[in-house]
Parts: sequence; structure tokens; C-alpha cells
Amino acid sequence: MRRKLIAGNWKMNGSLAANAVLLDGIKSELPQASCDVAICAPAPYLAQCKSVLTGTPVSWGAQDVSEHESGAYTGEVAAAMLTDFGCTYVIVGHSERRSYHGETSERVAAKAARAIKSGLVPIVCVGESLEEREAGKTDSVVGAQLDAVLSVLGADGCGKMVIAYEPVWAIGTGKTATPQMAQDVHAVLRARVAALNPAAAETVQILYGGSMKPDNARELLAMQDIDGGLIGGAALKAADFLAIIRSA
Ligand code: G3P
Repeated sequence: MRRKLIAGNWKMNGSLAANAVLLDGIKSELPQASCDVAICAPAPYLAQCKSVLTGTPVSWGAQDVSEHESGAYTGEVAAAMLTDFGCTYVIVGHSERRSYHGETSERVAAKAARAIKSGLVPIVCVGESLEEREAGKTDSVVGAQLDAVLSVLGADGCGKMVIAYEPVWAIGTGKTATPQMAQDVHAVLRARVAALNPAAAETVQILYGGSMKPDNARELLAMQDIDGGLIGGAALKAADFLAIIRSA
């Protein structure tokens, strides 16, 4: 039985004052955790997460990381800097980074490998556009995105990541994949991991992301291969995030 993970992706939202209210709301009402809970905050707020969440069951992480170890990479954040601030997780390959920052699957794979090498758990995002889904290309698109990472991580590394299936057309749109649509893709992704390492496929957590909300979380999380959620908008309100945690 895989443990569920509910991870919030704050994206480029927040302020010291707003985060204090949000984190306090989550911390004070957190149900007896029967699932893993994490918050992926903008890098400048990781110190705040560390100070507020240390000693609680909530983990925290970043939304991106450099594939390089250190050096002359202006504007980049190294994996070792994230571990300095107590991060457990880092999101890599979010579709917003793939589309607005030109991140290729190869670069995403290098970032995932760097994260694992530094003791972080990468949350590797894959997902198809609406056009790709309508053309019947979903499985091949997400399969190729995942394979690029699997080929770099290898059989040993592939169990050290979390995978997030985020259909691009469902992100921030209020449109959600039906539980069956999401389940079908999750099963494809798990089979890709199984082809490399059958034992890792049994334990790897595959999250769904894309307008997961309190009113659809339960149904999605009931599916066999959906092991949690990567939550955008609904992670910015303590009541909504907590409701999703309770569904898990
Ligand atoms: O990474 C989370 C994400 O992209 C989903 O965002 O706002 O649709 O929950 P949202």
C-alpha cells in the first residue's frame, strides 16, 4: 500500500505576511497525518518554511533547481542550497517551466539526477497539451517525457523520485481530468517504471495535478494508481488544502 502525498505548489505567489497566515492555518488544523504533506514554495520563502514547519509533519521543497552543482550560473539555485534550507522535495519539469523557460526533457532529467544526488526527492512533472490529447498522443507524449528521466536515473534512481501527471489543459483552468482519464495515464506511467524496475514501480508515488480541489479530490484519490496530488490554486487557501489532505 503506497502512502499518499499531498503537495502544494505555490507557484509565484505569496508574501512573508500572507505565508505566515497560510502556514499557520495549515499547521494548526492539520489532521492526524495519514498521508505525507509538503509545500513547494518560492525559493526566497524556504527559510520561512523551515522556521515555521520544522518539528511539524509538513515537509517543504522548491519549485525548480539547477542541474549544475555550483558556480557561474547567475540566477540559478543549487540543490545543496535547497538542502541547506531543509528541503525534502523539489519540483522539476513543471509544464510552466517547459513552456515559458524552454526546459527540455533532457534538462529536466539532469535536474532530477542532480536533486537525487543531493538527497532531494524530485517531483518530476509530465503532461500533454489539449492538442496532443485530442490527437491521441497523450501516452506517447507523457511516456517520452518520463523515459527521458528514467534513462538518466536508471533502475537504481527511478524509485527515488515522485512523478506528477499534470495535463496542461487542466492546470489552473478549473477543468479536471476525470478520475478514469487520470487513472489510465497513471497506469501507463507506472508501467514505464515497471519496465525498468518492477519493485520501484510498486512504491513510486504518482501524483495527479490539474485543478484538484476539495470537491473532486476524493474521487481522484480513490483511483488505484493515483497516489496523491500536486495542488496549485487550492494550496493557497488553508481550508481548501486541508480539505484535500483530509480526502487523502
Ligand atoms: O503544480 C500544480 C499545478 O500545475 C496545478 O495547478 O492551480 O490547476 O491546481 P492548479
